[in-house]
Amino acid sequence: MPDSPTTRPLRLRQLGTGDLPALQRLLDADPGYARRVTGADPGAGDAADLLGSGPPDVPPSRKLVLGVFEGSRLVAVVDVLRGWPDGTTAHVGLLQVHADDQGRGIGRRTHDLLVDVVAGWPEVTTLRAAIVATNATEAEPFWSRLGYRPSGPPRPYQAGRTATEVTIWTRAVRAADEEQPR
Ligand SMILES: CC(C)(COP(=O)(O)OP(=O)(O)OC[C@H]1O[C@@H](n2cnc3c(N)ncnc32)[C@H](O)[C@@H]1OP(=O)(O)O)[C@@H](O)C(=O)NCCC(=O)NCCS
Repeated sequence: MPDSPTTRPLRLRQLGTGDLPALQRLLDADPGYARRVTGADPGAGDAADLLGSGPPDVPPSRKLVLGVFEGSRLVAVVDVLRGWPDGTTAHVGLLQVHADDQGRGIGRRTHDLLVDVVAGWPEVTTLRAAIVATNATEAEPFWSRLGYRPSGPPRPYQAGRTATEVTIWTRAVRAADEEQPR
């Protein structure tokens, strides 16, 4: 994993079908993440699923799949549901940095760019992420540094054949308690 912080500008834009190959490469590059949360390697249709699927009660226009580009290279993806599971909440479904680019500050900067988008949704006051226990060692320090805190008890969750738990973490969109960068 590289440890040099990124200094190049990052650009955020909504992903479309033309981005499917790059998105699939990003997902394929981190099979460990897929195994931890689904119990299986990334599948060939995962990028299309990410672009296409969402909770049945969410109109497609309320799901954004955003890519973060360093130059022309897709270095991170984040998807967000506006107004789910309630009107004042935006749910962050997946925030994934390309395996070759983790540990360079791109996850934090991706989140900053997401906050800028969500800040334009006046009804949304809370950001929400779900941490699967089998991925908690990797995910909890990250969400914690970004100011998220657990908002309820763990609930049962099925990661493929593995019975595990999921915990909801939340923070205010503009978090007063966000920890300062070290
Ligand atoms: C979790 C993930 C998004 C972090 O992205 P990243 O680019 O590596 O994170 P950053 O370099 O921007 O780190 C942001 C902060 O979190 C901290 N952090 C990130 N991962 C950490 C870890 N495993 N242990 C301790 N601290 C960690 C960093 O020290 C940094 O702190 P600072 O900004 O206050 O100095 C990335 O590792 C990833 O894509 N993992 C696979 C997918 C995943 O698990 N996503 C989260 C669940 S949806």
